[in-house]
Amino acid sequence: MPTDTELGKRWKADEEAGWKTWDASQTNPVDMYRLLSSAITPRPIAFVSTVAPDGVRNLAPLSFFQMVAFKPPLVMISCTIPRNRPKDTRENILSTKEFVLNLISEPFIEAANSCSVEAPAYVDEWIVSGLKGMPSVQVKPERVQDSAVSLECTYYSHQDIIPDGEENPSTTIIIGRVQLAHVRNSVLQPDGLQADPTKLRILSRLGGDTYARVSEGFDIPRPSWKEVKEKIGDKL
Ligand SMILES: Cc1cc2nc3c(=O)[nH]c(=O)nc-3n(C[C@H](O)[C@H](O)[C@H](O)COP(=O)(O)O)c2cc1C
Repeated sequence: MPTDTELGKRWKADEEAGWKTWDASQTNPVDMYRLLSSAITPRPIAFVSTVAPDGVRNLAPLSFFQMVAFKPPLVMISCTIPRNRPKDTRENILSTKEFVLNLISEPFIEAANSCSVEAPAYVDEWIVSGLKGMPSVQVKPERVQDSAVSLECTYYSHQDIIPDGEENPSTTIIIGRVQLAHVRNSVLQPDGLQADPTKLRILSRLGGDTYARVSEGFDIPRPSWKEVKEKIGDKL
């Protein structure tokens, strides 16, 4: 039971402080963003490489990012749309239908973070960050050489999110189909079939400007229904 450990006991005792509740309909979007982005953590960060129709390269970190299916292999990212200027990442993917999702590891976090600068569309963040690209095989945007994992993706679908009572979208969710996955040999498990997450030195995003290391793993086997049934017995 959770209360058997010191941490479990303290966790239980903290219940005495009670809960605070936010009603989304009464909360302004900035406060909602702060709350959810500091609570839904850690978030993986996609380092997205795209090319504009006029050939300008673009690189940006996005932490609204997840794997959403494996048959076919699909990943999602989500771009907010500031009133003054939609993100280049969104515009480039919707017009060229191609992008590369690179994972960010600790050794190049400062360079990756520098690409979050709100720069005009003509700015090439590869130059800003000093990061080097390697040619992709199936898509035009390059992949980040420093990344341990790079996924060459093509556009699958997108959904514009329109706030109640407004006309323009505030956000666009983009789903991409993974066409090729490049993984450094040095981060593969001995069987060569899977990445070893403890070797990736992956960074995730917490709230605000805070990043987190997620290199320490531990295993908990998934219970079988047979075991659970035997343990719970008559209580069911
Ligand atoms: C760690 C991190 C995560 C971010 N996640 C997102 C995100 O999920 N969606 C988004 O629209 N912007 C996100 N941003 C902000 C973008 O990186 C920033 O707006 C960038 O300038 C967009 O570049 P672009 O206009 O070249 O696409 C994030 C920034 C940082 C530093």
